[in-house]
Amino acid sequence: MENQKNKFQLKEGVSYINCAYMSPLLISSEKEGIKGMERKRNPFEIKQEDFFIEAEKVKENYAKIINSDSNSITICPSVSYGFATALNNISPNNKKKAIVIENEFPSGYFSAKNWCDKNECKLLTINFKDSDNKIEIINQDIINQIDEKTAFVLISSVHWANGAKFDLEKIGQKCKKSGCFLLVDGTQSIGALEMDVQKLQIDFMVGACYKWLFGPYSTAISYYSPSFFNGKPLEESWMNRTNAKDFSKLTEYDNNYTIDAGRFNVGEANDFIKMPMLNNALTQILEWKVDAIQSYCHKLMSPLTEFLLENEVHIANEKFQAQHIIGFKLPNKTDFNQLSMDLQQNQIFVSYRSGFLRVSPNVYNDSQDIIKLIEVLNKNL
Ligand SMILES: Cc1ncc(COP(=O)(O)O)c(C=O)c1O
Repeated sequence: MENQKNKFQLKEGVSYINCAYMSPLLISSEKEGIKGMERKRNPFEIKQEDFFIEAEKVKENYAKIINSDSNSITICPSVSYGFATALNNISPNNKKKAIVIENEFPSGYFSAKNWCDKNECKLLTINFKDSDNKIEIINQDIINQIDEKTAFVLISSVHWANGAKFDLEKIGQKCKKSGCFLLVDGTQSIGALEMDVQKLQIDFMVGACYKWLFGPYSTAISYYSPSFFNGKPLEESWMNRTNAKDFSKLTEYDNNYTIDAGRFNVGEANDFIKMPMLNNALTQILEWKVDAIQSYCHKLMSPLTEFLLENEVHIANEKFQAQHIIGFKLPNKTDFNQLSMDLQQNQIFVSYRSGFLRVSPNVYNDSQDIIKLIEVLNKNL
């Protein structure tokens, strides 16, 4: 894959290596957003079917990205909304605990904690910090803790602060064996790293769209496995009823929800501005291919990985390290304020999260961005 900077409008001279924070918008998505706004100048041109069509396209494209089918996919505004919906449909059934990772992103952590408090279950937090970041051991710790008393494991696809990969395949196998749900926050992977809900035996997965999916803010997408299909949504949108497409009959109240996961869509899911923007972005990702994006990031990040290893800065071994997010702990001797100033002066944008300096490139970055970063790190490590 070639560099794709010409499809974006990032400021010249800036090295924005921070997609885990927020992606820039594709020029083509920006145009779709403007078209969406312009449409409302003449609302009589907006037809009944337009209330559904773009969201349906989004679901179809997203389903291809995660190897699912579009009836299992729903639109919601955030990861917290998705987890609230899924957890609302999990009953304790004599289970006694749930599992999360230390430093899980707060939207997931608090959703799990709230469920445990309500259902008098223990929230077991797997140690992440003190294991010196050895992801192989952490993966095994998670697997060892899953048993028939476990209601669910709530976990991110890769650790959001350092890109360490959780072994979701083995975790999924153990969950199935023990009769517990696997709930995944895919925000930091979907679009940049293969996420196959069938292969990983995921029961529920939600992802915010404004990072690796190049979507607008306040849009997230959830996948529900069939075990949720008879569940209860958080709210009762008219759009989720089987008669919704016939506006003349809406008050012939229809007790049936649209097929499969259809009941879980947030009200007004088919945002006339955001859905065309998101659909455009998903189409572009499918054209690029997720594997090619991951390989592109791998190639970009290789010199940084080499540099870090030469300087004895720990990162996970390649099998357990995503290449689109690499976070590392700074040596004690590093002056963080000086490093921040140097990054700022050189217009390099990365993040500092939970003790890790997080570098997260995407297809608009080139080798110069990484060289610039290495030069600054070389001065400061
Ligand atoms: C792993 C992860 N999950 C979720 C979110 C966003 O959560 P929400 O959609 O609830 O705002 C982020 C944002 O940084 C994230 O990194």
